[in-house]
Order: sequence, then structure tokens, then C-alpha cells
Amino acid sequence: MTLIVREPAGFRRACDDARAKGQRVGLVPTMGALHAGHLSLVDEAQRRADFVALTLFVNPLQFAEGEDLGRYPRTFERDLEECRARNVDLVFSPEPASMYPPAFQTTVVVGEVTQPLEGKFRPTHFDGVTTVVTKLFNLTGPSVALFGRKDYQQWKTLARLARDLDMPVEVVGCPIVREEDGLALSSRNRYLSAAERERALAIVAGLRAAHDVWTNGERDPEALRLLAEEPVRSRFDRVDYVAAVDPETLGPPEAGPSRLLIAAAAHLGNTRLIDNVVLGEDRRP
Ligand code: PAF
Repeated sequence: MTLIVREPAGFRRACDDARAKGQRVGLVPTMGALHAGHLSLVDEAQRRADFVALTLFVNPLQFAEGEDLGRYPRTFERDLEECRARNVDLVFSPEPASMYPPAFQTTVVVGEVTQPLEGKFRPTHFDGVTTVVTKLFNLTGPSVALFGRKDYQQWKTLARLARDLDMPVEVVGCPIVREEDGLALSSRNRYLSAAERERALAIVAGLRAAHDVWTNGERDPEALRLLAEEPVRSRFDRVDYVAAVDPETLGPPEAGPSRLLIAAAAHLGNTRLIDNVVLGEDRRP
């Protein structure tokens, strides 16, 4: 049975009860509009924990002015059905006011790893993510928390947060789930028109081109980056970045790297998409 709670205190109590019974708690934080990518996190949580809590909360703190907070898809009833079908033990779906009451005045800030890539284009975004995830960790007391690697920098940031603040939680990054044609699943894909959906594949084409050439022995980060960038520049309306960086620091890669993160963010109309591949580690997207 899936228990649904709306208030932080009730959520904390249900997690405390599970731990008191000796259960290992797994946390899957989401903003809802669940898709197969989220469900793969639930499956992994169920493999690693005895009690799985999933949160549905469109966190206003991680959206800047002019971003898509207002139109972010909210599909609560369908999300609950997915959770019930998957035997998620606990769903937490708070109102913003109960997460951020009027006197709220604390921000959790992680340093360097948040600065490049997304941080350059969404400078307040990670502060919102690290603040809400710290609250969720504190409410839940999870042994393990699962995040998708499509938000690669988010995963690395949250792993850093847990390590730096001695949070007793394992932060796991799960593989990107893709449509059959390669497009990474994202709640934002539903914003795309049919024509934009087709053009969105350019981001995958770029990652595949870099992956193919890497497989044939190319190790020059800039050459790989340029290959990934070309289709994105020609098919998207605006490109924020196509970067080739060290997969751990997200800074400049070493010469002749053994692994290389190619990460991209670009706009089609009003929709911003991100995607990535770790060359030397991930399968061809
Ligand atoms: O990846 C997301 O959906 C969000 O950034 C998260 C981790 C649930 C925090 O709001």
C-alpha cells in the first residue's frame, strides 16, 4: 500500500517508523510528471532499500524569474497511480508554504562543482536544489537517494553536498533512460511540438558522433566537443553550451583523458533541453 502525506511532520514520522522497524529507507526526490526515467529510480531504490519514499514537489526555489515554474507539468493523480502500481511505500507531496513557511531564510550553497555548465546559465538553480534536497534528506533520513544522470551536474553536486556535510546517505546516479530514437526522457519533452521533437534529436546525434569517434580512438577533448556541438548549433534555436569536461570536477579535462563528459544545453522555442554522455564509460546514447 502507498501512503500519501502532505505535511513535513507526517512524512518525517512515516520515515522514522520505517527506520524504527529496522528498514533501510531509500529516497527518490522528484518534481512529479513521472516518466520511465523516474520509475527506473524507483526500481533501483527498491533493489537497494526496504522502504521507498518518493517526493513530488515542484520546488519554486530552483526556478529563476522567467523560467518555467508556472507551466511545469503537474500530473498528481497519474503520478500517484504510477507510485501505487510500483508499490512505492510513501509519497510526500507538500505545498510550497509548508516547505518554505514565511520566516524561511536558509540557503544551502555548494561551491565549485555548481559553477560551470548549468551554473553559468542558471546561477541560482543549484542553491534551490541543494536547499530542498537537504530538507528532504533531513526529513527522510535515507540510507540511499537516487537521482538521474541526465542532470549529471545535479548528481555530482548532491554527492558533494552529502560528502562535505557528512550526511549519512549514499547518493546514487542512475543511467539516463531514453526513447527508442535516443531522446533522453524529460518531463519537459511534453512542451515540444512535433517539429521541435524531431529537431531535438540533434542533441543525441551530437553525443553519438562524439561517442563513435571516441570509440575509434579520438582523445582530443576539443575535437570531440566540436563534433557534438555541430548538429546542436545547426538544429536548435539557441545553444547555452556544449562542453567537454572532466566527469568528476566538471572542470577542464586532462590531456588524453580516460573518461570525458560531453554535456549540452540548448533551446527549442521556449523549451530548454539538456543531455550528456560520459565517453569511456557510457554506452552509445
Ligand atoms: O531533479 C529534480 O527533479 C529536482 O531537481 C529535485 C532533485 C527533485 C529537487 O527538486
